[in-house]
Amino acid sequence: MTNITLTVNGKSVSRDIPDETLLSEFLREHLRLTGTHVGCDTSQCGACVVHVDGKAAKSCTTLAVALDGAQVTTIEGLANGDLHPMQEAFTEHHGLQCGFCTPGMIMASVDIVNRYKAEGRTLTEKAIRHELEGNICRCTGYHNIVKAVESAAAKM
Ligand code: FES
Ligand code: FES
Repeated sequence: MTNITLTVNGKSVSRDIPDETLLSEFLREHLRLTGTHVGCDTSQCGACVVHVDGKAAKSCTTLAVALDGAQVTTIEGLANGDLHPMQEAFTEHHGLQCGFCTPGMIMASVDIVNRYKAEGRTLTEKAIRHELEGNICRCTGYHNIVKAVESAAAKM
């Protein structure tokens, strides 16, 4: 067991956890933040994406003990009173159906837009499709997801 202290969605949390605890398990089972989904557990589907120190990370293949002192944001912490522009855009452009992939899709998309803006790069439709290759959706066909990301990027 190891004691870790993280800041999760702006709040400090401290727990004794087995060393093999994945970040996804820590969030879902220890903190009951079940908005982070687990689809594959093998780093392929992207349903588990959260932000660690401001960057997208697949929580199903990240050990929680490796993150002592880190800042983690989950889908529950993304909105700040009002919905985040990415959440609004997914709603407006029908970027979801069953919603299973949506938390990971939104967290990954926010990271993409932030990264492109910080680097002064143009976020094209082709770039969005390429960047979202690590996020699988079984419902939407991706078209509306891409439209949502384009729309949010203009507002972020
Ligand atoms: S559950 Fe992490 S990538 Fe699928
Ligand atoms: S909305 Fe169902 S998996 Fe993406």
